[in-house]
Amino acid sequence: MLFRIFAKKKNCMINKKRVTFSSKLGMILAAVGSAVGLGNIWRFPYEAGANGGGAFIIVYILCVFLIGMVAMIAEFLIGKMGRKNVVDSFNQLKPNSAWHYVGYIGLLAGVLIMGNYVVVSGWTLKYFLASSTFGLQDLTVSGYEEFFIKYTASSFEPIIYLVIFMFISHLLLSRGVKTGIEKASKIMMPILFILLLVLVINSLLLPNAIKGLEFLFKPDFSSLSYQGVLAALAQAFFSLSLGMGAMLTYSSYFREDVNIMRTTAQVVVLDTMVALLSGMVIFPAVFAYGASPEAGPGLVFKVLPNVFNQMPLGVLWSSIFYLVLIIACLTSLMSLHEVVIAYFMDKRGLSRRKASLLITIVVIVLGILSSLSMGKLNDLRLFGKTFFDILDFISASICLPLGGMLMSIFVAWILGKDKFVSGLTNDGKIVVNKTLLNVVFFLLKYIVPMAILIIFITSLL
Ligand code: TRP
Repeated sequence: MLFRIFAKKKNCMINKKRVTFSSKLGMILAAVGSAVGLGNIWRFPYEAGANGGGAFIIVYILCVFLIGMVAMIAEFLIGKMGRKNVVDSFNQLKPNSAWHYVGYIGLLAGVLIMGNYVVVSGWTLKYFLASSTFGLQDLTVSGYEEFFIKYTASSFEPIIYLVIFMFISHLLLSRGVKTGIEKASKIMMPILFILLLVLVINSLLLPNAIKGLEFLFKPDFSSLSYQGVLAALAQAFFSLSLGMGAMLTYSSYFREDVNIMRTTAQVVVLDTMVALLSGMVIFPAVFAYGASPEAGPGLVFKVLPNVFNQMPLGVLWSSIFYLVLIIACLTSLMSLHEVVIAYFMDKRGLSRRKASLLITIVVIVLGILSSLSMGKLNDLRLFGKTFFDILDFISASICLPLGGMLMSIFVAWILGKDKFVSGLTNDGKIVVNKTLLNVVFFLLKYIVPMAILIIFITSLL
């Protein structure tokens, strides 16, 4: 049985035309759905808060537009021209070379990121259920902290929620590219935007909201360290879903006539907007109720519930907030999940459902270990790191930067300028400004790989 599952069916998919997204909007929302996730709503605000606010945000925006955007163009190009999964797209574009190993790095990163992503996604589900049933009310400041620590360290409930989350992803992805990914993104992303706007308006109407905005938008460069600059670059990569083939896999479903430059710009702008809007939800509220913006990873789970609790109609606002987080997590998790599904379908000839189920099971096992590493298995450490930290370290600090750097090098140095131009102009059918093409190619060839190399090395030190 096992042998049958893993037996390669060589001809599978070779002659079949690859499915594509059915509309431009669906395609963009799927990519935005991948990009908008915990990175925007959970990680961005605490990184900004811990690194001084406004100055961090300016550097972040520069990283996003000069480096992230260019790296995304490269990733989209590989998928759109290779028309295969993250491994075989490289084989297609550069046969008989070692480049497809970049795809394997991506697959590994994907599975490891999912192992942690489902754990935190599970927390958002718990916090949504707890807040909407009035269970997060009237604790003290330390009470909220204790709630979080006790909950995340427990051995049963967090696992149930992560299993539920992963199964929802499995059920949606089993439906395929058009009726699964595209439809889910088309329904969920507009809801996410509307709810987020509602939350922003509510936050801006709070007393002292202006202080939160000042913190976010008034740059104080003296509070930005070298570490902060690196954190901004790493944050840009994570938030834009770069470096492991999520964007590559989605672009292998793009239609032939897609304008990659324009699509990239749209995805990047929307992703950055969501990060800034999340900041505009969180910081005015944090300042209005005298909480600290520098709480780090606990900001959204330990500090915010207390802030919501003090607001009029707090239960409503906190329920909406955690619902937004759930949606954001789900569409991002689906994109990670799809990378590995596409590989097992193309390469190993598995049906979509079987491929998805196989990965679901593997991720649940990793997720359980990762979740338990905050409680029962906390003493099980390697180099002082818990299982959660190890997954995070290998994926975010090693695989993603390595993958992103190699993909950029692949497009600029291996495919070369001609293919780059023909991919972006769809063989001359789309008009793209020449200077712009030159600038992007220059950034891709020299600046992007160097910038990534720098974060990579310093994050290992
Ligand atoms: N971008 C998502 C977020 O902001 C996370 C994510 C999804 C991701 N797919 C990815 C990160 C691929 C890196 C690579 O939460």
